Amino acid sequence: MNNAVAFDIYGTLIDTQAVLARLTELLGDKAPAVSRLWRQKQLEYSFRRGLMRDYCDFSVCTRQALVFACREHAVTISEEAIELAMQAYADLDAFPDVLTGLHALRSRGTRLYAFSNGSREAVERLLKRAAIRDCFEAVVSVEDVHSFKPDPQVYAHLVRSCDVPAAQVYLVSANPFDILGAAHAGLRTAWLRRDPGTPFDPWGVEPNVTLESLRDIAHRLPAGD
Ligand code: 2OP
Repeated sequence: MNNAVAFDIYGTLIDTQAVLARLTELLGDKAPAVSRLWRQKQLEYSFRRGLMRDYCDFSVCTRQALVFACREHAVTISEEAIELAMQAYADLDAFPDVLTGLHALRSRGTRLYAFSNGSREAVERLLKRAAIRDCFEAVVSVEDVHSFKPDPQVYAHLVRSCDVPAAQVYLVSANPFDILGAAHAGLRTAWLRRDPGTPFDPWGVEPNVTLESLRDIAHRLPAGD
């Protein structure tokens, strides 16, 4: 039976730091610090809401995290500037290695899934804009189960969508919290460590595969058992 391969979106296929250019136009020299805190707070808000069972569209976490990051850095941001930053976030580009990696997996017959905290609409928009939507069997969004990663429910939803046992699903993600959540739910995992200096969490659980790029993914992930 062939494995299914699911890809995280933000930070894995789509470069979230690409929004930094727009933030720099809007906020000046505090943009790098605001951008880092923005991503951290966006994820923290999703973790909180998952635990609270208080689901909202991931774009709400993104918007509220931007406002917090500006307040923390004493940066004044107008409603118009918030809209411009959110627009940039909605239109992020894919990393340069993505197309090569996805096509190599498709050419060997592997079924691919996009799997994200983002709404189906937001993910569809990003994939179509990056001209990679056709690589995927489906977009699997946590909105279907009204929770967020790393809630086990969202990985169970992904496995149901892939229609194979959990051990036949590989999750590819640049986010260690996502890798640990998927491993906890019985999936196999491939951590995409784009920055060699990024440490993995010391939880005593290691990814099945660690990649530095998607270029050689078809040689690194087994096709099936
Ligand atoms: C995702 O795309 C937040 O990167 C995470 O689900």
